[in-house]
Parts: sequence; C-alpha cells; structure tokens
Amino acid sequence: MRVILGIIVVGLVAFVGALAYAMRYDEIEPLAAPPAASTFSREMLELGERMAGMGDCDVCHTRPNGEPYAGGLPLPTPFGTIYVTNITPDPETGIGNWSLEAFKRAMREGVDREGDYLYPAFPYNHFTLATDKDIEAIYAYIMARVRPVKYTAPENEMPFPFNIRLGVAGWNLLFLKQGEYKPDSTKSAEWNRGAYLVEGLGHCGACHSPLNFIGAQKGGDNKFGGGDAEGWHIPALNHRTPAPIAWTKDALVNYLFDGYDKHHGITAGPMTPVINHLNVQKEDDVYAIAEYIASFQPKSDAAATEKALAWANEREWNPDPAYVPKFEDPQMQRGAEVFKSVCANCHKRGGQPAPLGITSTVNMPDPRNVLRITLEGIRPPRGARDRSMPQFSQSLRDEDLAALMYFIRKQYTTKPAWDGVPDYIREIRNPAAH
Ligand code: HEC
Ligand code: HEC
Ligand code: HEC
Repeated sequence: MRVILGIIVVGLVAFVGALAYAMRYDEIEPLAAPPAASTFSREMLELGERMAGMGDCDVCHTRPNGEPYAGGLPLPTPFGTIYVTNITPDPETGIGNWSLEAFKRAMREGVDREGDYLYPAFPYNHFTLATDKDIEAIYAYIMARVRPVKYTAPENEMPFPFNIRLGVAGWNLLFLKQGEYKPDSTKSAEWNRGAYLVEGLGHCGACHSPLNFIGAQKGGDNKFGGGDAEGWHIPALNHRTPAPIAWTKDALVNYLFDGYDKHHGITAGPMTPVINHLNVQKEDDVYAIAEYIASFQPKSDAAATEKALAWANEREWNPDPAYVPKFEDPQMQRGAEVFKSVCANCHKRGGQPAPLGITSTVNMPDPRNVLRITLEGIRPPRGARDRSMPQFSQSLRDEDLAALMYFIRKQYTTKPAWDGVPDYIREIRNPAAH
C-alpha cells in the first residue's frame, strides 16, 4: 500500500514539475515598430541572405503563388496539418514587432514571442545550433529586406491531443538539445564547418533521416538513413545509399551546386529548392558540406566505379532506330514497348541524360520518385537548366505506367521489383483522395 502511494506521490510531483517546467516561458515585449533597415550593415544583410537560404526559410514560409515569407503553406504531418506562419516584418500578422531576443528564442528554443510552444515542423531543433551571429544576420535580413505582407495563415488542423502546444514541452525535453554547435576537435576545420551547416541551418537530416513514432529523427546507424517528405522518397546519405557508385566529395560538390553529377544524374522534387539555394552559397561552404556528407559514405574505388558505369551503359537502350525489344516476360515486353515509344528518344546509349542505371532514382527501394518524374517531368535547378524533362501524365495509362516501372527496375538495376506500384500510381494521380 505504501509503495503504491509512494509511486502515486512521486508521479504527481513529477507531473506537476513537468507542467511547471513546460509553462516557464514568458511573453517578450513587442517592439513599437520593426527596426530600421539602416541599423544593419551591408555585410550583415548579405550574410543574412545567404544563411536564410541555407535554412530554406522561404521554401516553407511561402505558399504556392503567395508572397515570399508570408506563410500559408500546409505541411501535412502524421499529427495533422500545420500551416506555416507569416514571418514577414508586418507588425500585426508577421514578426515585425519581434525583438532580436524573441527571434533568437524562437530559433533556439522553439517558442514564439508570446511564450507559446512552436511545433517541431519548424526545424528549431536544427536551427538551435546556429551561431548568434548567423541568427542575428537572418533577423536583420528579414527585417530589412523582406517585404512586409498582411496575411494570416489558416488555423492548423490538428486533432486532440496534438492541438495542445504544451505537449511540445515533452518533445523538447526528450529531443531538443539547445545551444550552438560544438566543434569536434578530432576532425578538420572543413568537416566541422560542414557539420555546422548540415546539422544546423541546413537541417538536411529533417528530410534525410528517418523519424521515430513521435516525429523525431533517429540517430546512430539510422542517421541520414533516408526518409519520406512531400510524397517523395528521400534517399539515404549514409552507408545505405542507393547510389550504385559511392558519392565522392567531388561528386557531391557538383550535385549540391548544380543538381547534377555525371555519375549520379539529376536532382528532382523537394531537393530542387535546396540546390537552388546552395548554388549561391560560398564555394567553401558547399565544399565543407560535401566533406561532411562524404564522411558518411562507403569508400569509393575507381575499379568499382568503372564497373558500375560499364554495366549501366551496357543496359542503356539500343540507339539503333530499327531495334525491336524482345522479352519472354510479357510485363517486361509491354514495359519495353512503352519505353520505346515515349522515353527512348532521349534515354538511350550515348544520349544526353546520364545512364539510368547509375542513378539513385531507379535504384531506390521505393518507386515514387521515378513515378513522379515520369508523371510530372523535371524542372531542373538553375545550375542544370538544359536538363529538363517533359511530363507524361496525359500520355500514359495506369497499366502502361505500371509495366514501364517494372521494365525500368528490371532493366536498369539488379534490385528486386518494386512493391505497391498501382497504389502509388493512384495516390500520385489523386492526391486529394489520400
Ligand atoms: C520545414 C519547414 C520550415 C522551414 C525550413 C522553416 N520554417 Fe519557420 N516555421 C515552420 C512552421 C511549420 C512554423 C509554425 C509552427 C507552429 O505553428 O507551431 C514556423 C514558425 C516560425 C517562426 C515563428 C513565427 C510565429 O509567428 O510564431 C519563426 C520566427 C520562423 N518560423 C522562422 C524561420 C526562419 C528564420 C527560417 C529559416 C532559417 C525558417 N523558419 C525555416 C516551418 C519552417
Ligand atoms: C525538403 C527535404 C530535403 C531537404 C531539407 C534536403 N534534401 Fe537532399 N534530397 C531530398 C530528396 C527528395 C532527394 C531525392 C531527389 C531525387 O529523387 O532526385 C534528395 C537527394 C539528395 C542527394 C542525392 C542522393 C542520391 O543518392 O541521389 C544528396 C547528396 C542530398 N539530397 C543532400 C542534401 C543535403 C546536403 C541537404 C542539406 C543541405 C539536403 N539534402 C536537404 C530532400 C531533401
Ligand atoms: C525529351 C527528352 C526526354 C524524354 C522523352 C524522357 N526523358 Fe527522362 N530525362 C530527361 C532528362 C534531360 C533528364 C535529366 C537527367 C540528365 O540529364 O541526366 C531525365 C531524367 C530522368 C530520370 C531521373 C534520372 C536521374 O538522373 O535521377 C528518370 C527516372 C527519367 N528521366 C525517366 C524517364 C521516363 C520513364 C521517360 C518516359 C516516360 C522519360 N524519362 C522520357 C529527358 C527525357
């Protein structure tokens, strides 16, 4: 009896303690007016523009066809839909009345000016690593260079209990490690700069690491182990990489700057805006990111690279116009015929695109990226403008598309056939129903 009572008392104390801990944030006084642009140096504003780009602030804080930074983009999460807020310097509907102190608290601790918890769909668990200087520069850039817009995002659509912001306090207790990045003295300065950018403002792991059941990134062996975002598969960047040719630092530099590398192919989908921002970063910073990411990759070796390239070239479509595919497997035959009629004009041996077999896209465990590329086409990033691909959503019937996927997987990789292709086709064609 006393033991049970003891447990109840301890539990109660812990609960009250947690509640008090959770509610400890005060409102920070609003500013009378946004700080004048003249109070920030040009150097500060330039740094702020680059670091805001590193953080992709505009990517989330801009809705389709909306004004930059004005918010309103719906972010679907397993816990409901969150609408991204307006962070233009409008004092009423944006953050124009936020002091630097309030902004810093949001970036480091995930709490808004009034003292309410923000949901971790805002990647403050990464941004917390940024230096004071970088955070101040972003603040300066938003206040001085972003146009104020009067707009309020729709209310979040989150069911109980996720609509209670206090719950985030528990999440923070478990998963938020506040404070600036601490360099690892056993590693080079370049590696540390890369780690600072990737883990901090770049928040690469927010997409590239799998999430646990309450939406926190898994670490250890799962770090950069791949994930899911916006209906795309996110490839692993660690030893589980789907790339048939291991990523070297140089290949990563090419890809991160321009979105294209000859041993890996093109970028697509939600990675494209990330690449467009990296394209205008300082060269040293992109090299540093590549150095850090390369340290998670398996060792590359020249002989293996040559072998993978030769295999992929050999599997490319025969460019002879008289070539007629002949396969015993009827699904393979049908897929090959579809490929011949709509894809082989461009995707053939000696054609412009990289051989399909060396790309991560066709080697991934999940067919969604190839399906989306086929149905939606490719709008390449600014560093690879001549590599656009048309969309084929009207010209392919579902059965032909499924056969095409079967053919692509079997022809261009040594991996097992993809599961669930028809379901994915339905999901991509009718997003509203899913
Ligand atoms: C992955 C998407 C995403 C990115 C990238 C992102 N944000 Fe946000 N941000 C959000 C969401 C979602 C919210 C609203 C969270 C909520 O309502 O609890 C938010 C809220 C905020 C807030 C609080 C605003 C308010 O009115 O309470 C600030 C400040 C902010 N973000 C700044 C930034 C800055 C600066 C960057 C770039 C360095 C950035 N965000 C990048 C998703 C994002
Ligand atoms: C919004 C989600 C998102 C964020 C943030 C993001 N990525 Fe990606 N990334 C993707 C997607 C999606 C792909 C796959 C694109 C494709 O299929 O072509 C990808 C692909 C890649 C690839 C190519 C991998 C391969 O094997 O083909 C690299 C390298 C990469 N990202 C690095 C980064 C780095 C470094 C950062 C941070 C600076 C980052 N990503 C941030 C979504 C994201
Ligand atoms: C008009 C030319 C053209 C046609 C037709 C075309 N593509 Fe592409 N495709 C491209 C270009 C250009 C790229 C960009 C990659 C590159 O340049 O290496 C690309 C990229 C791709 C990728 C991404 C590969 C990577 O680098 O990750 C896939 C998958 C793909 N195409 C599949 C198809 C399929 C399936 C069809 C037929 C339904 C098709 N393409 C038809 C030109 C074309």
